[in-house]
Amino acid sequence: MGFELTPSTVEAWLREMDEHQLEQLWREADRVRRENVGDTVHLRGLIEISNHCCRLCGYCGLRADNRGLERYRMSREEILQCAQMARDLGFGTVVMQAGEDYGITRDWLADIIREIKRRHPDLAITLSLGERPDEDLLAWKNAGADRYLLRFETSDPDLYALIHPPAPGRTLSDRIAQLKRMREMGYEIGSGIMVGIPGQTYSMVARDILLFRELDLDMIGMGPYISHPATPLARMEPADPRAAERIRLPMPAPEGEQVPNSELMTYKVVALTRLACPEANIPSTTALATLNLAQGRELGLQRGANIVMPNLTPVTYRRLYEIYPAKACIAETPDQCYVCLKSRILRIGREIGTGPGGRRRLTSTVT
Ligand code: 5AD
Ligand code: FES
Repeated sequence: MGFELTPSTVEAWLREMDEHQLEQLWREADRVRRENVGDTVHLRGLIEISNHCCRLCGYCGLRADNRGLERYRMSREEILQCAQMARDLGFGTVVMQAGEDYGITRDWLADIIREIKRRHPDLAITLSLGERPDEDLLAWKNAGADRYLLRFETSDPDLYALIHPPAPGRTLSDRIAQLKRMREMGYEIGSGIMVGIPGQTYSMVARDILLFRELDLDMIGMGPYISHPATPLARMEPADPRAAERIRLPMPAPEGEQVPNSELMTYKVVALTRLACPEANIPSTTALATLNLAQGRELGLQRGANIVMPNLTPVTYRRLYEIYPAKACIAETPDQCYVCLKSRILRIGREIGTGPGGRRRLTSTVT
């Protein structure tokens, strides 16, 4: 099979089970990765700044009505200490991630962004804070944030609507429109999907991959869907009963159509994404490491990925950021996480990046 990417060839690759064929796909993805983004693996220090969330996404353990979860929000000082640690460990980027938490106010975070940039002008700042209003996104851009991550999770409008109830008082969200607006604001933009969401078919994932290319994303994150018992999707139920009245979509999809949430399928999606988006920054994700602790990260890096995200969140909070159960690297301290990832990268013959490692120049004006 060739590597021309159309909806039908991408779908055929996703269904491919022949080991020799797949070996060709891995080799091609690795070649395209090397030729376009090189052997350097960039490290992004992940700070999970809050696990509060006002939303009800059908798959996510942080959803507002999960009362079994103790909630936290890091202090300004704790966040600044994590940024310092990122710098000390030589990382070029920090990623501040949280649920959609309006306790994280526009001004409070803008001030923290400014302070990080004042202390560490060469540290790139990535935000991953959900579907915030444009006013917040603009203020954070102006304060010095460089990039924003917002996975669209699936490009299928029906599946999207079933698993993403609108915020209180709002209508169905449009993450793709938000991504386009953020690009206009000057952010580098990242998105991505979960692989193997109940109801997700092969043709949907093929379209997701082609949409990555159409949006010309700077960063693309993909991980296997992992069932969380405190969510509707674990019971194969839609998260939005009103959407379910008008949308009939079987969960899971019929036999032969449902994409498995497997390690192998995730590698196929990573490899095809590299072919579709040769220059994108693609992480080998924690969700992948969760399915295969021994080798998941490495195999991701050898099948298209060029980024890893060591966790800098203080250990006391880490177990509370439970998007899905049994997340990898939950007990390690930031230093341990770094040492472990570094040796994994070097062992497979790759180098560790030092600079910010973005697709474009860093924001230089800090207001
Ligand atoms: N399994 C795997 N990934 C998940 N995410 C959220 N919940 C789960 C889950 N149950 C991913 C989503 C989100 C990212 C931060 O984590 O893709 O965008
Ligand atoms: Fe809000 Fe997952 S539902 S972070």
